[in-house]
Amino acid sequence: MNAEEFTYVKKKIRELTQFDLDNYGHNQMIRRLDGYIMRFKVQNVAQYFNLVKHDKNELEKLKKFLTINVSEFFRDAAQFRLLQDEILPPLLQNNLGLNIWSAGCSNGAEAYSVAMLLDRQSPYRKHRILATDIDQAIVNHAAAGGPYGAAEVRNVPKQLLEKYFTKDGGNFRVIERIRNKVNFGLHDLTRDPFEDNFDLIICRNVVIYFSTETKKILRKKFLDSLKVHGILFIGATETMLDAKDNGFQRLSACFYRKKSGMPEKSQEPVVSGRGIK
Ligand SMILES: C[S@@+](CC[C@H](N)C(=O)[O-])C[C@H]1O[C@@H](n2cnc3c(N)ncnc32)[C@H](O)[C@@H]1O
Repeated sequence: MNAEEFTYVKKKIRELTQFDLDNYGHNQMIRRLDGYIMRFKVQNVAQYFNLVKHDKNELEKLKKFLTINVSEFFRDAAQFRLLQDEILPPLLQNNLGLNIWSAGCSNGAEAYSVAMLLDRQSPYRKHRILATDIDQAIVNHAAAGGPYGAAEVRNVPKQLLEKYFTKDGGNFRVIERIRNKVNFGLHDLTRDPFEDNFDLIICRNVVIYFSTETKKILRKKFLDSLKVHGILFIGATETMLDAKDNGFQRLSACFYRKKSGMPEKSQEPVVSGRGIK
C-alpha cells in the first residue's frame, strides 16, 4: 500500500470505526493491513471498504483485527509473582484501599488477575479496580466474566482456578464476587481524559502499537495520573529506557515508580472526549 492509499485507508477506518490510525506505528500498521486486505482478493483498497461498509460482520472482524485484543490471566506469570510479592505489599502498607487502572484491558483477564491477588492478600479491604478498553465488544465480554478458554486460564494456579472460576462447558467464567470488584468501561487512551490519583496503572501490550510521539504523550499522562510513589506496570516486551528523565524510578523491567517531587495532578488541560463510563 502506498502513502496515498494509506491516507485513504486511515480516512475510511476513522469513518467506519472511529479508530485513529495516526496514533499507531505506521510501518507496522501498513504491513498488517496489507496482509489483511489482500485476503479479500479485491482489486484495490476502495473495493475492500465498499465491501466492509455493507457487511456488519466484516466490520466487526476489521475492528477485532485492529485492536489485537488477545490477553490471558496472569500473562507473564513471573511479572505477576513480582506484583504479588514485591509491589502490592508496600502499596497495601501505605494505603487502606488501592485505586487501580487496567488500561487497554481487553477481555478483563489482567484486571481480574489483580482482583484475585488482592482478594488473597487483603481480603477485608475495599479496593477500586477500573478496567477500560477502546473496544465495546471486548469490554462486554470482560464485564460478563468470560467465558474464557483453556488457553486463557493456563497460567492460573489450580487452587485459584477452583476458587475463582466456575466451569462453563469446556470454558471458565469468573465468579460474581470477583466480577463485582472490577468496573469496566469504554475509554480511548488517545482521545479521552485520564482520571488521576491511581496507586497502580497497568498498561501492558497496548502502547507498543502506538507511534513514538503518542507513546511519549501517554507516558506523561500516566505519570500525571499516578499518586506520588504510584506504580506503572508495563508489558514484558516494552521498555522505558529514559524512565528517570520522565519522572519514574525503574524498579525492574516492567515496574516503574513515580518519583517524589512530581506533581500529583495533571498540569495540562483535560482533553475533551467521552470520558470513562
Ligand atoms: C494486546 S491487548 C492487551 C491486553 C492486556 N493489557 C494484556 O496485556 O494482556 C491490547 C488492547 O488494547 C486495546 N487498545 C488498542 N488501542 C486502544 C486505545 N486507543 N485505547 C484503549 N485501548 C486500546 C485493544 O482493544 C486491546 O484490547
